[in-house]
Amino acid sequence: MKVLGIESSCDETAAAVYDGERGLLAERVHSQADLHAAWGGVVPELAARDHVRRLPRLVQSVLADAGITTRDLDGVAYTAGPGLVGALMVGAGYGRALAYALDRPAVAVHHLEGHLLAVLLEPDPPEFPYLALLVSGGHTMLIDVEGIGRYRVLGETLDDAAGEAFDKTAKLLGLPYPGGARLAELAERGRAGRFAFPRPMRDRPGLDFSFSGLKTAVALAVRGRILDAADSADLARGFQAAVVDSLVEKSLRALEATGRSRLVVAGGVGANLKLRSALKAAAESNGMRAYYPRPSLCTDNAAMIALVGHERLLHGERAPLAVTAQPRWPVDALMAPGSSGAAA
Ligand code: KG4
Ligand code: ZN
Repeated sequence: MKVLGIESSCDETAAAVYDGERGLLAERVHSQADLHAAWGGVVPELAARDHVRRLPRLVQSVLADAGITTRDLDGVAYTAGPGLVGALMVGAGYGRALAYALDRPAVAVHHLEGHLLAVLLEPDPPEFPYLALLVSGGHTMLIDVEGIGRYRVLGETLDDAAGEAFDKTAKLLGLPYPGGARLAELAERGRAGRFAFPRPMRDRPGLDFSFSGLKTAVALAVRGRILDAADSADLARGFQAAVVDSLVEKSLRALEATGRSRLVVAGGVGANLKLRSALKAAAESNGMRAYYPRPSLCTDNAAMIALVGHERLLHGERAPLAVTAQPRWPVDALMAPGSSGAAA
């Protein structure tokens, strides 16, 4: 079964083709980062309009890369939420209409389920169950993944998401939007220990996160200072160390609480090298194993949407003909594919 995946929930337009036997055949991502940079953040209306401009050609290109035409598709999967409603409606409208025109089934996919299962596209994927640390621009969550569609949220951020904190702190340091990855690069050149920021929520029980206080601590350290290159790098290093420590600490707590031995790191911040090495070391020293999708499967992509769509289409799940998007959609409201009521 060949499934076209479409992702347009935020500021990446993406398309991919997944084949049940041969795996991922092709994928493409167009980032709108340059479009939004001038505004210092994603402008929802601009995002939606750019998806309209890019999506049809992107789909044609990805089909050509896969060496197939629309006629060879067995189904279409599109991200139906959560995300920006205008942006979501572009992918949902296009995907639903294409499936209708081709007389093929369509399926509405949950964006976070895509992130949670993206690791299954890797050659040596973990078995179920596993604990997932989902860290992106919009979410920071610890989720117990018992199987496809069986998710239990154990903890989440009470304020900013980890990626959001990276981006906002990068902005404070004068880095262009989206600054998360640039801040991480800058941190590599910084000195450890010059700025010791608080480790949010470390002393509190439970598995929730909080990052807005940390961002404020950086803002206070920056205030009244004219930053030279060394200051910025040292601040970046101090900030990143605090975020990484907080994520590692809560992940270990969650592994202990659930008794899971496999940790999967997902979402855009999962591309952070410091976080990856710290989690790997922490997991291994506790006799557990950490799994990461490659960085391009951590950030938003359509390969993960095509994969989830394939699983759900196989079990007979179908999107209704009406084009709908769910900007808010709790991930633990999902059900295992094939169980009654699973259709979006
Ligand atoms: O998953 P994603 O592509 O989009 C969302 O669904 O949010 O995540 C994007 C987030 C942004 O906040 C970006 O700054 C952050 O991931 N990010 C990073 C790194 N690469 C991307 N944050 C820290 N270090 C990185 N290397
Ligand atoms: Zn995402």
